[in-house]
Amino acid sequence: MFGRLNQRVGLDIGSHSIKVVVAEKSGGKFRPVKFVRQEIYPEIDKYDLDGPKRSVAVPALSEVFKKLGFLPRKVRNLYSNIGGAQVSAKEISAVHLDDEEMASAMLLEARKHIPLDGSQSVVDYQIIGDDLKVSDKVRVIIAATTRKLFDAHNEILKDLELRPGVVDLDQLASMNSYIIGRELPEDGVTIFLNLGCRKTNLTVFGRKDIFFTRDIPIAGHHFTEELVRRYGLDYATAEQVKIVQGMNPDLEAIGIEKEVKLLRVAEKAIIDRLGDEINRSLRYYVKETGQSLFNQMIMLGGTAALKGLDEYLSKKFSIPVDIYNPLTAYELSCNGEFGPQYAVAVGLALRGD
Ligand SMILES: Nc1ncnc2c1ncn2[C@@H]1O[C@H](COP(=O)(O)OP(=O)(O)OP(=O)(O)O)[C@@H](O)[C@H]1O
Ligand SMILES: [Mg+2]
Repeated sequence: MFGRLNQRVGLDIGSHSIKVVVAEKSGGKFRPVKFVRQEIYPEIDKYDLDGPKRSVAVPALSEVFKKLGFLPRKVRNLYSNIGGAQVSAKEISAVHLDDEEMASAMLLEARKHIPLDGSQSVVDYQIIGDDLKVSDKVRVIIAATTRKLFDAHNEILKDLELRPGVVDLDQLASMNSYIIGRELPEDGVTIFLNLGCRKTNLTVFGRKDIFFTRDIPIAGHHFTEELVRRYGLDYATAEQVKIVQGMNPDLEAIGIEKEVKLLRVAEKAIIDRLGDEINRSLRYYVKETGQSLFNQMIMLGGTAALKGLDEYLSKKFSIPVDIYNPLTAYELSCNGEFGPQYAVAVGLALRGD
């Protein structure tokens, strides 16, 4: 049944867990109808910042499809993602050409605009609309990654007999989960934070203002590590404490005495380092574009659940912060799952052709 053309499967292979969302067409539009998640590491302390190796990812993926109850090779419309340090994207303004000419023009543009490290790269582009500032031009997001990362991704899919489909970037998919079917404010920009486990994608986008994205190498793993170092906990306990109590746990309840603190006094807390990095990126955006009207911050990803983080960001940047749940937005009941963690998978499954 999943081979039907009116179904799409969004597959988000994160570094911590795999999320799958199935979308079906109804009333002319795709809507998410089903979602499943599988943690990649049976023992959480084996977590690998470089992302899951093929030998770990493949069994976890098999589990996901078992939970969904269908065979990977039956999937007709697969939308999967790549993310991490070797992925970049940038908006440019370009003359609209036919497909073939556009592809080769964008390859040249990518070489000019995106810092590729000289290794073989894969380039793709997406036209997002007319350039309102320059007539006859369109706004294009060009995306690039290394051939090595792209091939490694496809090898994992091949091992499962999944037919490769569209591959998208985390940054674009998480933003799409919010903007598809919704109008952004006429003026100013929205800030998207996809807070995962190894990194936070920061993306800035507005109806008239240029798309900007940057990965900040601070996310869930770094918060857990801070609890490990601060209280001398093992990784798995720290992870649990973080999820249940947040970053300021009741020490008595977890059987820890204050004196155990291993953190050096001068060390900056992770939350402040994350705040500083966001601040630096936003200042760069203002400097480059002249646009400083930030309307709202949208939090997505598993670490958006961290207690107090939304308040912290709202206060630091004096801006409304919303933890966006793309499942309830489509009237799905979350069944105990944290909806914002599915943002990338929802964005993938809903992506326009
Ligand atoms: N209730 C919670 N409170 C705090 N953190 C949470 C909570 N639930 C999950 N997390 C954290 O969310 C992270 C996983 O989120 P997510 O699934 O978005 O990451 P990922 O996509 O696998 O990682 P990445 O995109 O960085 O490769 C983990 O670090 C986990 O500890
Ligand atoms: Mg992720």
